[in-house]
Amino acid sequence: LAAALSPGLLAGRHVLITAGPTLEAIDPVRGITNISSGKMGFALARACRRVGARVTLVAGPVSLATPRGVERIDVVSAAQMRDAVLRAVGDAGVFIGVAAVADYRPAEVSEHKIKKSGGSGLALELVQNPDILAEVAALPNPPFCVGFAAESRNLDEYASAKRLKKRLPLLVGNLIQDGMGGESNRVVLYDELGRHPLPAASKDEIAGGIVAHLAAMLANKQ
Ligand code: CTP
Ligand code: CA
Repeated sequence: LAAALSPGLLAGRHVLITAGPTLEAIDPVRGITNISSGKMGFALARACRRVGARVTLVAGPVSLATPRGVERIDVVSAAQMRDAVLRAVGDAGVFIGVAAVADYRPAEVSEHKIKKSGGSGLALELVQNPDILAEVAALPNPPFCVGFAAESRNLDEYASAKRLKKRLPLLVGNLIQDGMGGESNRVVLYDELGRHPLPAASKDEIAGGIVAHLAAMLANKQ
């Protein structure tokens, strides 16, 4: 994992990455979201750039600096993230979905701030968001697709099932308690050969390990 990646490992390739959360508006000042710092996705963007890839990073609302040499497209909602991805995916050889996309959005967005009324609760109707990764993986000539799964339990079972369901060659899984918000993580890579645990490490080191595995898989395909 600590081994240096060769500088031209992904030269000539366009890598498209989603990172961070999405925010689904309820009204002008409120929304529902998933918790995600964006650090893992930004670390991957840096790692891919460092080994020569052209990198497009579609980022939800995060407070992180844009990695040097990376084209960043900022979005807020899952619908905006999907549009940005579909616009950029044309010549991408690799798509890495790291974003914690909100699975649901409010059916209606209130134009004005919702006022508290009465003494009881408030019911929100939610509708399902499109699955960006599944959509990209199902394109006629799809890029090499990498998924992420952060689970609170049953990691092997849920991650393997997700990889198969979305038809992904590679999926990166982690337990929420190991990674969320922090600088380090512990992940397991899942591919058709099985599970490959990486040692616990900084998110930058883990990004390097993922890129090494991904590049080896791309090289085997050719
Ligand atoms: N993903 C996506 N668009 C969505 C939901 C998820 O692109 N609307 C991507 C994520 O970026 C991640 C992968 O799909 O790479 C798995 O996300 P996850 O939330 O773990 O899976 P879901 O299919 O949404 O299943 P669930 O939340 O029920 O576990
Ligand atoms: Ca989800």
